Amino acid sequence: MKFAVVAHRRSATNEALAVAARRCGLDADVLAPQRALALLEPGDVALARLDVRDSLDGIESGTGELERLAAEGVEVLNPPRALVAAHDKLLTARVLRLAGLPHPHTTLLAPALPSAVPELPLVLKPRFGSWGRDVELCSTAEELEAALLAAQSRRWFFEHGAVAQELVEPRGWDLRVVVAGGRIVGSARRVALPGEWRTNAALGANVEPAEAPPLARTLALAAVQAVGADLAGVDLLPTRNGFVVLEVNGAVDFRPLYAPIGNVFEDTIAALLGAVARRRPAALAGAV
Ligand SMILES: Nc1ncnc2c1ncn2[C@@H]1O[C@H](COP(=O)(O)OP(=O)(O)O)[C@@H](O)[C@H]1O
Ligand SMILES: [Mg+2]
Repeated sequence: MKFAVVAHRRSATNEALAVAARRCGLDADVLAPQRALALLEPGDVALARLDVRDSLDGIESGTGELERLAAEGVEVLNPPRALVAAHDKLLTARVLRLAGLPHPHTTLLAPALPSAVPELPLVLKPRFGSWGRDVELCSTAEELEAALLAAQSRRWFFEHGAVAQELVEPRGWDLRVVVAGGRIVGSARRVALPGEWRTNAALGANVEPAEAPPLARTLALAAVQAVGADLAGVDLLPTRNGFVVLEVNGAVDFRPLYAPIGNVFEDTIAALLGAVARRRPAALAGAV
């Protein structure tokens, strides 16, 4: 059975997942969507790791190829509908709300779209954002105006608008929980740089091993189930009496320290194969 990590980038996480899959005895590699479509056969597994585009104006190309792979009988993990629900922060908000999960109130601010003046303070961010880029804290009407003016020079704003999100009082850290095949395979605390309110590793946050408390675990599992992902990272912001789900990362990056015991990448592959086996026991038994 072939196992493809379907991605445009050979990121450390994508490479580590392919290496782990090979260690689990699979014929595995990182493949671009077109290449996966050419090489994979019915019964193979494709783990979709399409990310948001560098320009933040949508998801990387390849959802069409993923649909075709699924139609041909390839088991597609993180199918397009899950990637969209995770990557589009407006859709994530709707999905989490529908599932009854705690999430900051989120509305769309788009050019040429009438909208009520949102309550301050708020966080203005791209709908398809990542790496903390263009995520702005607006405490006053002037700051909101400046952030909207800055957004006007971005392509993503004209493509999809921005989301305005209720601010969860920043505490300088958050918890990232990685869920694979319906179980937790790792977690870490991300501690923001001094003077920085955003907890992205790309903005210098220190990532340290941390076990997720029971509430965080329950919320993470429920959030990933709500978006329908097979592998995702859930970012949880601490509050006075618990956590809120901030986002679900459909192309989550993680490192060995996420599981101080064992190998987080091999655990991820094992959990994903377990999920595939539950879905189609007979086919998998013959394929491996
Ligand atoms: N509503 C919010 N309340 C508090 N902090 C937030 C909020 N939105 C974003 N942040 C901070 O900014 C960081 C980046 O925002 P996020 O929505 O995760 O976008 P990205 O996809 O770019 O990581 C988060 O990790 C968090 O630290
Ligand atoms: Mg984030």
